[in-house]
Amino acid sequence: MMNINFRMVVVWLLGSFVIGVQAHERFGERQVEIVPTKMWNDMNGEYINAHGGGILTYGGKYYWFGEHRPATGFATEVGVSCYSSTDLHNWKYENVALAVSQEAGSEIEKGCIMERPKVIYNKKTGKFVLWFHLELKGKGYEAARAGVAVSDTPTGPYRFVRSMRVNPKIYPLNLSPENRKTQWDWSKYKEWWTPEWHKAVVDGLFVQRDLKGGQMSRDMTLFVDDDGKAYHIYSSEENLTLQIAELTDNYQDHTGKYIRIFPGGHNEAPAIFKHNNIYWMITSGCTGWAPNEARMFSAPSIWGPWTQHPHPFIGPGAEKTFGGQSTYVLSLPENKYIFMADVWKPDSLMYSRYIWLPIDFDKAGSPVIEWKNSWKPVF
Ligand code: GAL
Repeated sequence: MMNINFRMVVVWLLGSFVIGVQAHERFGERQVEIVPTKMWNDMNGEYINAHGGGILTYGGKYYWFGEHRPATGFATEVGVSCYSSTDLHNWKYENVALAVSQEAGSEIEKGCIMERPKVIYNKKTGKFVLWFHLELKGKGYEAARAGVAVSDTPTGPYRFVRSMRVNPKIYPLNLSPENRKTQWDWSKYKEWWTPEWHKAVVDGLFVQRDLKGGQMSRDMTLFVDDDGKAYHIYSSEENLTLQIAELTDNYQDHTGKYIRIFPGGHNEAPAIFKHNNIYWMITSGCTGWAPNEARMFSAPSIWGPWTQHPHPFIGPGAEKTFGGQSTYVLSLPENKYIFMADVWKPDSLMYSRYIWLPIDFDKAGSPVIEWKNSWKPVF
Protein backbone atom coordinates (compact mmCIF):
# COMPACT_ATOMS: atom_id res chain seq x y z
CA MET A 1 0.00 0.00 0.00
CA MET A 2 2.75 2.35 1.08
CA ASN A 3 4.53 1.40 -2.08
CA ILE A 4 1.56 2.31 -4.30
CA ASN A 5 1.16 5.65 -2.53
CA PHE A 6 4.82 6.33 -2.93
CA ARG A 7 4.58 5.57 -6.65
CA MET A 8 1.59 7.86 -7.00
CA VAL A 9 3.49 10.67 -5.37
CA VAL A 10 6.44 10.09 -7.69
CA VAL A 11 4.15 10.06 -10.74
CA TRP A 12 2.43 13.22 -9.53
CA LEU A 13 5.75 14.95 -8.90
CA LEU A 14 7.06 13.93 -12.32
CA GLY A 15 3.81 15.09 -13.94
CA SER A 16 4.01 18.53 -12.36
CA PHE A 17 7.66 18.72 -13.34
CA VAL A 18 6.85 17.98 -17.00
CA ILE A 19 3.98 20.49 -17.00
CA GLY A 20 6.33 22.97 -15.34
CA VAL A 21 8.95 22.46 -18.06
CA GLN A 22 6.35 22.93 -20.77
CA ALA A 23 5.03 26.10 -19.14
CA HIS A 24 8.54 27.45 -18.89
CA GLU A 25 9.14 26.66 -22.53
CA ARG A 26 5.99 28.49 -23.49
CA PHE A 27 7.05 31.64 -21.72
CA GLY A 28 10.64 31.33 -22.81
CA GLU A 29 12.05 31.16 -19.33
CA ARG A 30 14.61 28.66 -18.11
CA GLN A 31 14.88 25.58 -20.28
CA VAL A 32 15.57 22.39 -18.41
CA GLU A 33 16.44 20.16 -21.32
CA ILE A 34 17.16 20.12 -25.02
CA VAL A 35 14.10 18.97 -26.97
CA PRO A 36 15.14 18.27 -30.59
CA THR A 37 12.82 19.72 -33.28
CA LYS A 38 10.64 21.60 -30.73
CA MET A 39 10.30 25.41 -30.80
CA TRP A 40 13.39 26.67 -28.98
CA ASN A 41 13.19 30.10 -27.37
CA ASP A 42 15.91 32.30 -25.96
CA MET A 43 15.79 33.66 -22.41
CA ASN A 44 13.62 36.58 -23.55
CA GLY A 45 11.01 34.18 -24.88
CA GLU A 46 11.91 34.92 -28.53
CA TYR A 47 12.44 32.13 -31.05
CA ILE A 48 16.17 31.43 -31.49
CA ASN A 49 17.04 32.58 -35.00
CA ALA A 50 20.51 31.06 -35.59
CA HIS A 51 20.35 28.51 -38.38
CA GLY A 52 23.16 26.65 -40.15
CA GLY A 53 25.12 27.62 -37.07
CA GLY A 54 28.09 26.67 -34.98
CA ILE A 55 29.35 27.17 -31.44
CA LEU A 56 32.43 28.96 -30.15
CA THR A 57 33.61 27.98 -26.67
CA TYR A 58 35.44 30.85 -25.01
CA GLY A 59 36.06 32.07 -21.46
CA GLY A 60 33.72 29.53 -19.84
CA LYS A 61 30.82 30.43 -22.13
CA TYR A 62 29.31 29.08 -25.30
CA TYR A 63 28.50 31.41 -28.18
CA TRP A 64 26.04 30.23 -30.80
CA PHE A 65 26.36 31.94 -34.18
CA GLY A 66 23.85 31.29 -36.92
CA GLU A 67 21.94 32.60 -39.89
CA HIS A 68 19.31 35.15 -38.92
CA ARG A 69 16.55 34.17 -41.34
CA PRO A 70 13.42 36.15 -42.25
CA ALA A 71 9.90 34.83 -41.56
CA THR A 72 9.35 34.71 -45.34
CA GLY A 73 11.81 34.72 -48.23
CA PHE A 74 15.38 33.53 -47.94
CA ALA A 75 17.71 36.47 -48.61
CA THR A 76 19.56 37.84 -45.58
CA GLU A 77 17.95 40.95 -44.14
CA VAL A 78 19.73 41.13 -40.81
CA GLY A 79 22.98 39.11 -40.77
CA VAL A 80 24.59 36.61 -38.44
CA SER A 81 23.07 36.36 -34.98
CA CYS A 82 24.84 35.54 -31.72
CA TYR A 83 23.51 33.98 -28.51
CA SER A 84 25.44 33.02 -25.38
CA SER A 85 24.97 30.34 -22.75
CA THR A 86 26.71 28.74 -19.80
CA ASP A 87 24.69 25.50 -19.85
CA LEU A 88 23.93 24.90 -23.55
CA HIS A 89 20.16 24.94 -23.08
CA ASN A 90 19.41 28.46 -21.85
CA TRP A 91 20.50 30.95 -24.49
CA LYS A 92 20.73 34.70 -24.07
CA TYR A 93 20.34 36.78 -27.21
CA GLU A 94 23.49 38.91 -27.55
CA ASN A 95 23.27 40.82 -30.83
CA VAL A 96 23.75 40.75 -34.56
CA ALA A 97 27.38 39.66 -34.75
CA LEU A 98 27.77 40.57 -38.41
CA ALA A 99 25.21 42.90 -39.90
CA VAL A 100 24.36 43.19 -43.58
CA SER A 101 25.43 46.49 -45.12
CA GLN A 102 22.90 49.16 -46.07
CA GLU A 103 25.33 50.41 -48.73
CA ALA A 104 24.35 49.61 -52.33
CA GLY A 105 27.03 47.56 -54.06
CA SER A 106 28.61 46.24 -50.87
CA GLU A 107 29.43 42.53 -51.07
CA ILE A 108 27.30 42.03 -47.98
CA GLU A 109 24.52 44.38 -49.02
CA LYS A 110 21.13 43.63 -47.44
CA GLY A 111 19.55 41.01 -49.69
CA CYS A 112 22.77 39.02 -50.10
CA ILE A 113 22.73 35.49 -48.65
CA MET A 114 24.86 34.69 -45.60
CA GLU A 115 24.89 31.02 -44.69
CA ARG A 116 26.54 28.61 -42.26
CA PRO A 117 28.58 31.12 -40.20
CA LYS A 118 31.29 29.67 -37.93
CA VAL A 119 33.56 31.54 -35.50
CA ILE A 120 36.98 30.50 -34.23
CA TYR A 121 39.31 32.21 -31.79
CA ASN A 122 42.88 32.91 -32.81
CA LYS A 123 45.17 32.63 -29.77
CA LYS A 124 48.08 34.33 -31.58
CA THR A 125 46.22 37.47 -32.63
CA GLY A 126 43.58 37.49 -29.88
CA LYS A 127 40.94 37.99 -32.58
CA PHE A 128 37.69 36.16 -33.23
CA VAL A 129 37.38 35.17 -36.86
CA LEU A 130 34.02 34.56 -38.53
CA TRP A 131 33.75 32.71 -41.84
CA PHE A 132 30.52 32.25 -43.77
CA HIS A 133 29.16 31.30 -47.14
CA LEU A 134 28.30 34.42 -49.09
CA GLU A 135 26.08 34.81 -52.13
CA LEU A 136 25.89 38.25 -53.72
CA LYS A 137 22.62 40.14 -53.83
CA GLY A 138 20.43 39.24 -56.80
CA LYS A 139 22.77 36.53 -58.10
CA GLY A 140 21.10 33.43 -56.68
CA TYR A 141 23.76 30.92 -55.65
CA GLU A 142 26.24 31.59 -58.46
CA ALA A 143 28.88 33.59 -56.56
CA ALA A 144 29.76 30.68 -54.23
CA ARG A 145 32.14 32.77 -52.13
CA ALA A 146 33.57 32.55 -48.62
CA GLY A 147 33.34 35.67 -46.45
CA VAL A 148 35.58 36.63 -43.52
CA ALA A 149 34.92 39.05 -40.67
CA VAL A 150 36.88 39.76 -37.46
CA SER A 151 36.22 41.07 -33.98
CA ASP A 152 38.13 41.70 -30.74
CA THR A 153 35.27 40.31 -28.67
CA PRO A 154 33.35 37.06 -29.11
CA THR A 155 29.95 38.69 -29.58
CA GLY A 156 31.18 41.35 -32.00
CA PRO A 157 30.10 43.38 -33.86
CA TYR A 158 32.38 41.77 -36.44
CA ARG A 159 34.03 43.84 -39.14
CA PHE A 160 33.64 42.41 -42.63
CA VAL A 161 37.12 41.95 -44.13
CA ARG A 162 36.42 40.56 -47.60
CA SER A 163 35.00 37.66 -49.56
CA MET A 164 36.73 35.37 -51.99
CA ARG A 165 36.75 32.20 -54.02
CA VAL A 166 39.32 29.78 -52.58
CA ASN A 167 43.00 29.49 -53.57
CA PRO A 168 43.00 31.03 -57.07
CA LYS A 169 45.64 29.66 -59.48
CA ILE A 170 46.55 26.81 -57.14
CA TYR A 171 45.85 23.14 -57.75
CA PRO A 172 44.70 20.89 -54.92
CA LEU A 173 47.51 18.70 -53.54
CA ASN A 174 45.75 15.51 -54.56
CA LEU A 175 44.94 16.30 -58.18
CA SER A 176 47.33 14.17 -60.22
CA PRO A 177 49.88 15.75 -62.58
CA GLU A 178 48.07 14.12 -65.57
CA ASN A 179 44.75 15.60 -64.55
CA ARG A 180 46.33 19.01 -64.13
CA LYS A 181 47.37 18.88 -67.79
CA THR A 182 44.02 17.74 -69.22
CA GLN A 183 42.58 20.08 -71.84
CA TRP A 184 38.83 19.62 -71.38
CA ASP A 185 36.62 19.69 -74.44
CA TRP A 186 33.67 21.46 -72.80
CA SER A 187 31.28 20.63 -75.64
CA LYS A 188 31.34 17.01 -74.38
CA TYR A 189 30.22 17.82 -70.85
CA LYS A 190 27.22 20.06 -71.39
CA GLU A 191 24.94 17.30 -70.23
CA TRP A 192 25.33 16.61 -66.50
CA TRP A 193 25.12 13.24 -64.75
CA THR A 194 26.31 11.11 -67.68
CA PRO A 195 29.09 8.60 -66.80
CA GLU A 196 31.58 10.59 -68.95
CA TRP A 197 30.65 13.82 -67.20
CA HIS A 198 30.99 12.15 -63.78
CA LYS A 199 34.44 10.83 -64.65
CA ALA A 200 35.46 14.29 -65.84
CA VAL A 201 34.24 15.81 -62.55
CA VAL A 202 36.29 13.27 -60.61
CA ASP A 203 39.30 14.11 -62.78
CA GLY A 204 39.02 17.81 -62.02
CA LEU A 205 36.76 19.32 -64.69
CA PHE A 206 35.48 22.07 -62.39
CA VAL A 207 38.76 22.50 -60.51
CA GLN A 208 40.33 23.51 -63.76
CA ARG A 209 37.38 25.65 -64.90
CA ASP A 210 37.66 27.64 -61.64
CA LEU A 211 41.43 27.60 -61.32
CA LYS A 212 41.95 31.22 -62.32
CA GLY A 213 39.29 32.81 -60.14
CA GLY A 214 39.47 30.31 -57.27
CA GLN A 215 37.43 27.34 -56.17
CA MET A 216 33.72 27.64 -55.36
CA SER A 217 32.80 27.63 -51.67
CA ARG A 218 29.22 27.05 -50.47
CA ASP A 219 28.18 25.00 -47.39
CA MET A 220 31.09 25.25 -44.99
CA THR A 221 32.54 24.72 -41.56
CA LEU A 222 35.81 25.47 -39.76
CA PHE A 223 38.00 23.23 -37.67
CA VAL A 224 40.86 24.16 -35.32
CA ASP A 225 43.23 21.29 -34.67
CA ASP A 226 45.15 20.62 -31.44
CA ASP A 227 48.25 22.30 -32.90
CA GLY A 228 46.30 25.53 -33.50
CA LYS A 229 46.13 25.10 -37.29
CA ALA A 230 42.72 25.88 -38.71
CA TYR A 231 40.94 24.51 -41.76
CA HIS A 232 38.08 25.63 -43.97
CA ILE A 233 35.96 22.72 -45.18
CA TYR A 234 33.48 23.53 -47.93
CA SER A 235 31.33 22.19 -50.73
CA SER A 236 33.06 23.11 -53.94
CA GLU A 237 33.00 22.26 -57.65
CA GLU A 238 29.23 22.87 -58.06
CA ASN A 239 28.64 21.11 -54.71
CA LEU A 240 30.04 17.92 -56.19
CA THR A 241 33.26 17.75 -54.20
CA LEU A 242 34.28 18.74 -50.69
CA GLN A 243 37.56 20.54 -50.29
CA ILE A 244 39.64 21.07 -47.15
CA ALA A 245 41.86 24.15 -47.20
CA GLU A 246 44.41 25.16 -44.58
CA LEU A 247 44.06 28.68 -43.15
CA THR A 248 46.91 31.10 -42.55
CA ASP A 249 48.21 31.70 -39.02
CA ASN A 250 45.79 34.60 -38.48
CA TYR A 251 42.89 32.44 -39.76
CA GLN A 252 41.86 35.14 -42.23
CA ASP A 253 43.04 33.64 -45.51
CA HIS A 254 43.98 30.35 -47.18
CA THR A 255 47.60 29.16 -47.33
CA GLY A 256 47.24 27.50 -50.75
CA LYS A 257 47.44 24.00 -49.28
CA TYR A 258 44.20 22.13 -49.95
CA ILE A 259 42.77 18.77 -50.94
CA ARG A 260 39.63 17.43 -52.56
CA ILE A 261 37.68 14.71 -50.83
CA PHE A 262 35.14 12.40 -52.43
CA PRO A 263 35.29 14.00 -55.89
CA GLY A 264 31.83 13.77 -57.45
CA GLY A 265 30.39 12.53 -54.10
CA HIS A 266 27.90 15.41 -53.83
CA ASN A 267 28.37 16.26 -50.15
CA GLU A 268 27.05 19.32 -48.34
CA ALA A 269 26.68 20.55 -44.76
CA PRO A 270 30.04 19.30 -43.43
CA ALA A 271 30.45 18.94 -39.65
CA ILE A 272 33.77 17.70 -38.28
CA PHE A 273 35.30 16.63 -34.98
CA LYS A 274 38.36 14.75 -33.75
CA HIS A 275 38.05 11.85 -31.33
CA ASN A 276 41.00 9.70 -30.18
CA ASN A 277 43.13 11.11 -32.98
CA ILE A 278 40.64 10.19 -35.68
CA TYR A 279 38.94 12.94 -37.69
CA TRP A 280 35.23 12.28 -38.21
CA MET A 281 33.09 14.13 -40.67
CA ILE A 282 29.31 14.00 -41.08
CA THR A 283 27.77 15.48 -44.22
CA SER A 284 24.48 15.43 -46.10
CA GLY A 285 23.66 14.76 -49.71
CA CYS A 286 22.47 17.64 -51.88
CA THR A 287 18.66 17.92 -51.84
CA GLY A 288 18.27 21.61 -50.96
CA TRP A 289 16.10 22.14 -47.88
CA ALA A 290 14.76 18.56 -47.94
CA PRO A 291 16.40 16.02 -45.63
CA ASN A 292 18.37 13.10 -47.01
CA GLU A 293 20.56 10.25 -45.82
CA ALA A 294 23.65 11.58 -44.06
CA ARG A 295 27.14 10.32 -44.81
CA MET A 296 30.03 9.76 -42.44
CA PHE A 297 33.78 9.71 -43.13
CA SER A 298 36.91 9.27 -41.06
CA ALA A 299 40.61 9.86 -41.55
CA PRO A 300 43.79 9.48 -39.51
CA SER A 301 44.95 12.92 -40.68
CA ILE A 302 43.06 15.98 -41.89
CA TRP A 303 44.84 15.38 -45.21
CA GLY A 304 43.37 11.89 -45.44
CA PRO A 305 43.03 9.24 -46.58
CA TRP A 306 39.29 9.70 -45.89
CA THR A 307 37.17 6.55 -45.68
CA GLN A 308 33.37 6.42 -45.93
CA HIS A 309 31.25 4.64 -43.28
CA PRO A 310 27.52 4.04 -42.86
CA HIS A 311 25.70 7.04 -41.36
CA PRO A 312 25.72 7.10 -37.52
CA PHE A 313 22.00 7.63 -36.83
CA ILE A 314 19.72 5.27 -34.93
CA GLY A 315 15.98 5.67 -34.30
CA PRO A 316 12.84 6.67 -36.19
CA GLY A 317 13.75 8.70 -39.27
CA ALA A 318 17.45 7.85 -38.97
CA GLU A 319 17.69 7.19 -42.71
CA LYS A 320 16.85 10.86 -43.33
CA THR A 321 18.85 12.35 -40.47
CA PHE A 322 15.63 12.65 -38.37
CA GLY A 323 14.44 15.26 -40.86
CA GLY A 324 17.51 17.43 -40.36
CA GLN A 325 20.75 18.42 -42.08
CA SER A 326 24.08 18.55 -40.27
CA THR A 327 25.62 21.90 -39.41
CA TYR A 328 28.18 21.45 -36.61
CA VAL A 329 29.65 19.14 -34.02
CA LEU A 330 30.47 20.81 -30.71
CA SER A 331 33.46 19.24 -28.96
CA LEU A 332 33.29 19.39 -25.18
CA PRO A 333 35.78 18.33 -22.50
CA GLU A 334 36.20 14.63 -21.68
CA ASN A 335 35.50 13.34 -25.17
CA LYS A 336 31.91 14.55 -25.28
CA TYR A 337 30.39 15.84 -28.48
CA ILE A 338 27.07 17.31 -29.56
CA PHE A 339 25.79 16.84 -33.10
CA MET A 340 23.82 19.84 -34.37
CA ALA A 341 21.46 19.89 -37.34
CA ASP A 342 18.80 22.11 -38.90
CA VAL A 343 15.30 20.99 -39.77
CA TRP A 344 14.67 23.49 -42.56
CA LYS A 345 11.24 25.08 -42.97
CA PRO A 346 11.57 26.65 -46.42
CA ASP A 347 8.18 28.40 -46.14
CA SER A 348 9.44 30.24 -43.11
CA LEU A 349 13.17 29.70 -42.71
CA MET A 350 13.19 31.73 -39.50
CA TYR A 351 11.21 28.95 -37.84
CA SER A 352 13.46 26.13 -39.04
CA ARG A 353 13.98 23.82 -36.07
CA TYR A 354 17.09 22.47 -34.38
CA ILE A 355 18.21 18.94 -33.63
CA TRP A 356 20.97 18.62 -31.06
CA LEU A 357 21.94 15.14 -29.93
CA PRO A 358 24.87 13.70 -27.98
CA ILE A 359 27.36 11.52 -29.86
CA ASP A 360 28.18 8.10 -28.41
CA PHE A 361 30.70 5.58 -29.70
CA ASP A 362 30.16 1.91 -30.44
CA LYS A 363 32.56 -0.89 -29.44
CA ALA A 364 34.61 -0.33 -32.58
CA GLY A 365 34.95 3.35 -31.70
CA SER A 366 32.59 4.65 -34.44
CA PRO A 367 30.20 7.51 -33.66
CA VAL A 368 26.57 6.63 -32.94
CA ILE A 369 23.83 9.26 -32.74
CA GLU A 370 20.62 7.95 -31.29
CA TRP A 371 17.32 9.86 -31.36
CA LYS A 372 16.19 11.27 -28.01
CA ASN A 373 12.89 13.06 -27.43
CA SER A 374 14.63 15.19 -24.86
CA TRP A 375 17.91 15.17 -22.96
CA LYS A 376 19.94 17.24 -20.59
CA PRO A 377 23.47 18.23 -21.57
CA VAL A 378 25.14 17.43 -18.26
CA PHE A 379 28.76 16.59 -18.92
C1 GAL B 1 21.04 23.41 -48.89
C2 GAL B 1 22.25 23.93 -48.14
C3 GAL B 1 21.82 25.15 -47.37
C4 GAL B 1 21.28 26.17 -48.35
C5 GAL B 1 20.17 25.55 -49.18
C6 GAL B 1 19.68 26.50 -50.24
O1 GAL B 1 21.34 22.29 -49.63
O2 GAL B 1 22.74 22.95 -47.28
O3 GAL B 1 22.92 25.66 -46.65
O4 GAL B 1 22.31 26.59 -49.19
O5 GAL B 1 20.61 24.37 -49.80
O6 GAL B 1 18.73 25.87 -51.08
